[in-house]
Amino acid sequence: MMMKSLKMTVAALALSAGAAQAADVEVLHWWTSGGEAAALNVLKQDLEGQGIGWQDMPVAGGGGTEAMTVLRARVTAGDPPTAVQALGFDILDWGNQGALANLNELAAKEGWDDVVPEALQAFAKVDGKWISAPVNVHSTNWVWANKSVLDANGIAVPTTWDEFTAAVETLKAAGVTPIAHGGQAWQDATVFDAVVMSTGGADFYKAAFVDLDEDALGSDTMKEAFDRMAYIRANVDENFSGRDWNLATAMVINGEAGFQMMGDWAKGEFLNAGKVPGEDFLCFRFPGTGDTVTFNADQFMMFDQGGTVSSEQAALASAILSPSFQIAFNKVKGSVPARTDVDGSDLDACGQQGMKDLAAAASSGKLFGSMAHGHAAPAAVKNAVYDVVTAHFNGEYDSATAVQELVDAVSIAQ
Ligand code: GAL
Repeated sequence: MMMKSLKMTVAALALSAGAAQAADVEVLHWWTSGGEAAALNVLKQDLEGQGIGWQDMPVAGGGGTEAMTVLRARVTAGDPPTAVQALGFDILDWGNQGALANLNELAAKEGWDDVVPEALQAFAKVDGKWISAPVNVHSTNWVWANKSVLDANGIAVPTTWDEFTAAVETLKAAGVTPIAHGGQAWQDATVFDAVVMSTGGADFYKAAFVDLDEDALGSDTMKEAFDRMAYIRANVDENFSGRDWNLATAMVINGEAGFQMMGDWAKGEFLNAGKVPGEDFLCFRFPGTGDTVTFNADQFMMFDQGGTVSSEQAALASAILSPSFQIAFNKVKGSVPARTDVDGSDLDACGQQGMKDLAAAASSGKLFGSMAHGHAAPAAVKNAVYDVVTAHFNGEYDSATAVQELVDAVSIAQ
């Protein structure tokens, strides 16, 4: 009797374990806005078409800080999710700790080495092992504008900082909120990426954010960048504090504000609202950063579930890298494909510009990882930059103090 029930229990356990393993992937991600969720659905449906179920583990919070906190708790508890959205140095960190499954067999079969750009491979491989599957390439030096608001005020697309401030003054005089912004550390830092690039140029951005050069971090040019951040702060509405990025995008969509400086995931919100680039909204590079790109690429890391890559993990990675998925997904997400061999003619005008800019910046040596989105420096440095930029944005430091704090914080974080 006892034997029989024991056998039944074992059988039931084997069945339920088998069912969970064979049918589902659990995916931790931070794609919770309308546009992001629409893009994620493209992936869910792709997998469902292959008979693989999706256990959703969303952790709200743009930029993924909160998602990374939840991930650490899950790993510490010995229960990592199957697949996890992650960025740049965070991926390398988990890879170096030996926590990620080796995707080399699949990568070799599908020829990832030949089609994924070098700049992305640098964040997808550790010691020659593929440890994550790149979904896209975003970039942070974009501005999104409401076309009718600009037209009504006689504003042409600004290409320099001075033209930008002139446009801001015109909107202010007309009683329109010039800049839609959400006061959260990662959003302040996203704007800072572009402001630093615009103020100091490509070599300065690299020296400060990639090489972490003290002279660059402590320079007058950096002080000028902070002064420009203060100008931006003076031209957002009074309710900016804590606002989610997609609500700031909605202000531009609804004509309540002229501009938002944000990565191209913002385009996903415009599209999700049925808006058309060139007709309802405009996308252009942050004034003064026209020939440079500060990028971040979303990837899915596959956590080692105690052995080889599971068939569901392989199916997910394979689906992510397939050329048709790369186009279908990135059309909705606002980003551009993570493969160099896909035909982008199906993308809208902003997407096509994004692809062209990316290729041009890569070949002219003007493609750099985004500090705000984990592709310029490791998490500790990124978080140190967040703290200083946010404190300055909220008036705790003047620009000269912010420069000194930046030098100190980055030095301590290394
Ligand atoms: C970025 C991510 C994008 C977008 C954005 C806002 O870090 O790369 O895909 O989701 O955060 O949530």
